Amino acid sequence: MPLEILQRPRRNRRSDNIRRLVRETVLRPEDLIWPLFIHESKDDLAIESMPGVSRLGEASLLRACERALELHIPAVAIFPSIDPTLKNDVGSHAFETSNLLYRAVSEIKKRFPNLVVITDVALDPYTDHGHDGLLSADGSSVENDSTVEVLCRLAVMEAQAGADIVAPSDMMDGRIASVRRALDAAGFQQTGIMSYAAKYTSAYYGPFRDAVGSKIGKDAISKSTYQMDPANSREAMREVRLDLEEGADIVIVKPAGAYLDIIRSVRQSCDAPLAAYQVSGEFSQIHAAARLGWLDYKRTRDESLVAIKRAGADMILTYFAAEVAAEMR
Ligand code: PBG
Repeated sequence: MPLEILQRPRRNRRSDNIRRLVRETVLRPEDLIWPLFIHESKDDLAIESMPGVSRLGEASLLRACERALELHIPAVAIFPSIDPTLKNDVGSHAFETSNLLYRAVSEIKKRFPNLVVITDVALDPYTDHGHDGLLSADGSSVENDSTVEVLCRLAVMEAQAGADIVAPSDMMDGRIASVRRALDAAGFQQTGIMSYAAKYTSAYYGPFRDAVGSKIGKDAISKSTYQMDPANSREAMREVRLDLEEGADIVIVKPAGAYLDIIRSVRQSCDAPLAAYQVSGEFSQIHAAARLGWLDYKRTRDESLVAIKRAGADMILTYFAAEVAAEMR
């Protein structure tokens, strides 16, 4: 006997085409930002903890940018891995006008003027201690205000090299307003700020620190003195509100997968464009489980991304960008 029920939600799941018709969230190549690692060498160097991802030499970097455009990915985010001998406690290599990052950005913009280039504003690629900012004289803390000053210089140099959007990822207080003023004073009114507004202290950054060589020592100051506590959610709304008041054009929640509730709350609490960063550890754990035969690689990957968009992200920084964009075609 058929049940006498009027509601049968399964009717909308009967065939692939019906499911396509009622699908609420569709990921597009336009939603993706592709993070790329670069280093000072002609050759690429595989990153062991991030399968399929390498530190790129110049030729491969340019090929990747070309591929991004072919795949309709609108933007790349460039992360330099700096030779350890060039690092010091104040990250002075960040201020060499011809360092790896600035050369790469200007080369990309020369060849592919339409590709949106995003650069991180933080000192961690350049400091020997791996922190995003300057340490106090006694080495006991990461100083806020002096760090903001150098971040402003860094942002202006990135804009000079041609970055379309600078992305402060350091979590210092007041940096968005200062960076906005510094960019404007230098004539870069059109350079955007994508703020890592809600960036959590996260174990999921592990493989990234391998990639850029910014591992911090075991006894060092903890990044939890500036990045957010994973236990907090109201605090993220406050960080987002402050960064928007200070002039951020786009805000980021990072990591993404374990913070879908934060993505949703930010989406509901403001109308600014919202990015989510699916970080290195989120990428690597899918690869690791797939290698063990415990998860289906593509299905898990795609589910992880659609979930981030469904939660409310307008755009996603992800190391899967190129491969998923290629499969969308
Ligand atoms: C640092 C920075 C980090 C990431 C992007 N920028 C790591 C950190 O805060 O230590 C992490 C990205 C990832 O894990 O994919 N400015």
